[in-house]
Amino acid sequence: MSERLRIGVFDSGIGGLSVLRHLVAVLPHLHYLYVGDTARVPYGNKSADTIALYAAQSAAFLRNRGVDMVVVACNTVSATSLPVVEAVAQVPVVGMIEPAVRAALEATRTNRIGVIGTRATIESQAYELALYAHSRREGLAVFSHACPLLVALAEEGWLAHPATYAIVEEYLRPLLEAAVDTLVLGCTHFPLLAEVFEQVAPLHLIDPGYWAARQVQQILGIPNSEHPLRHAPHIEYFVTDISSNFAAVARQFLGFEAYPLHRITLDHLVPSTL
Ligand code: DGL
Repeated sequence: MSERLRIGVFDSGIGGLSVLRHLVAVLPHLHYLYVGDTARVPYGNKSADTIALYAAQSAAFLRNRGVDMVVVACNTVSATSLPVVEAVAQVPVVGMIEPAVRAALEATRTNRIGVIGTRATIESQAYELALYAHSRREGLAVFSHACPLLVALAEEGWLAHPATYAIVEEYLRPLLEAAVDTLVLGCTHFPLLAEVFEQVAPLHLIDPGYWAARQVQQILGIPNSEHPLRHAPHIEYFVTDISSNFAAVARQFLGFEAYPLHRITLDHLVPSTL
């Protein structure tokens, strides 16, 4: 039964492939449909209204394809527009915030948690509010910081470049001064820079994509797969633009080729629920 489940995964662009990678590792036998709005990325610098409209269009596309569940791989969409996606998708929706928040609260020893993400994610305060809402202990302190430059550095493949170290140090300084012991990597691109973060400071790093994949596994009630896949995972990719470096950047996020790749248009999909 579970082998036939169709999981829709969507993101503002290529970054969500870092989440799909975890899903495929944890749940290799499902059928995945990945939507990347590569024509309109980045979402992280846009207003909440625009992000909600774009997110609704991706959700409508996946609903029309009959998926059984939607995973919102984009932290910016998860932070600003999850209720809109839920209304449009009409199937269970898993975002990045809740799984990451639970993991961060488990990981912290000092009750001081840092969150980094795009400007829209940080301005929404979604991580902060969810952390405070789920914390059962007194005295939780959350410190958030927008790190927009890291998106471009990850896509450029500057994963161990001296410039990346310098920028990560600069961005982390206020969080380290606040003595956080746990850091939520609240953007699809940041887990690619995990080694840089590890070198700059010894923190518990929380990769929301990994914890979201575990949540999907829990919801579906599928035990850990004992049988490795004997064939390539069943994934179809739908993107709104294909740039000349798409294949190379996608491979970096996914770990293998993004194929078969379909070019789609989303902007005619204005769901009636909006
Ligand atoms: N996918 C976005 C996120 O996780 C990063 C890229 C963007 O700004 O659209 O927040």
